[in-house]
Amino acid sequence: MKPKKPSDSRTIMTDLVLPSETNPLNNLFGGELLARMDRAASIAARRHSRRITVTASVNHVAFNRSVPLGSVVTLEAAISRTFRTSMEVYIDVWMEDRLSGERTKANEAIYTFVAVDETGKPTAIPAIEPETELEKIRFDGALRRKQLSLVLAGKMKPHDATELKALFTN
Ligand SMILES: CC(C)(COP(=O)(O)OP(=O)(O)OC[C@H]1O[C@@H](n2cnc3c(N)ncnc32)[C@H](O)[C@@H]1OP(=O)(O)O)[C@@H](O)C(=O)NCCC(=O)NCCS
Repeated sequence: MKPKKPSDSRTIMTDLVLPSETNPLNNLFGGELLARMDRAASIAARRHSRRITVTASVNHVAFNRSVPLGSVVTLEAAISRTFRTSMEVYIDVWMEDRLSGERTKANEAIYTFVAVDETGKPTAIPAIEPETELEKIRFDGALRRKQLSLVLAGKMKPHDATELKALFTN
């Protein structure tokens, strides 16, 4: 399989925040943002693998800034690293000032998707070659994030998480 680049899977979704999607403070409801991020990440995972993809894990979500009612929100999702059948997807969330048009980073998240066949069995995907500095930084950190996710899910023994352990011992 020919390796791909993060730009091959880049997915941009722009939408408004409507009243039915807000909390009592009139900011975007967290669960609504999670669903939007899952959708964008799912499209990026499909674009990379050209397979059926399922969400295996939500590894990290930072709700750094609230997103007010009426905001124009843009989600940018792209594959940051692939393994054999799984891939890490980074989602950056931006909001746009109504008057100036200036974009502010609101949130970010990291999801793991797995490519599967028609029976739901994990299947191999193309490798990825990062190009930009940011893509390289995200690629480099992805193995320890995968190990942390597997340890938390009880699918890897902490002892075997060598890349993760190195973070604390070096
Ligand atoms: C995700 C799923 C396919 C993994 O199946 P599995 O039997 O654990 O398969 P494997 O152990 O072979 O894992 C497949 C890959 O996923 C990775 N993976 C599994 N769980 C993971 C987790 N919690 N975090 C990170 N990676 C994970 C494995 O490391 C493996 O990666 P690799 O092949 O790239 O090395 C399976 O658990 C599933 O179908 N889950 C439900 C998915 C779903 O319905 N999502 C929507 C939620 S409503």
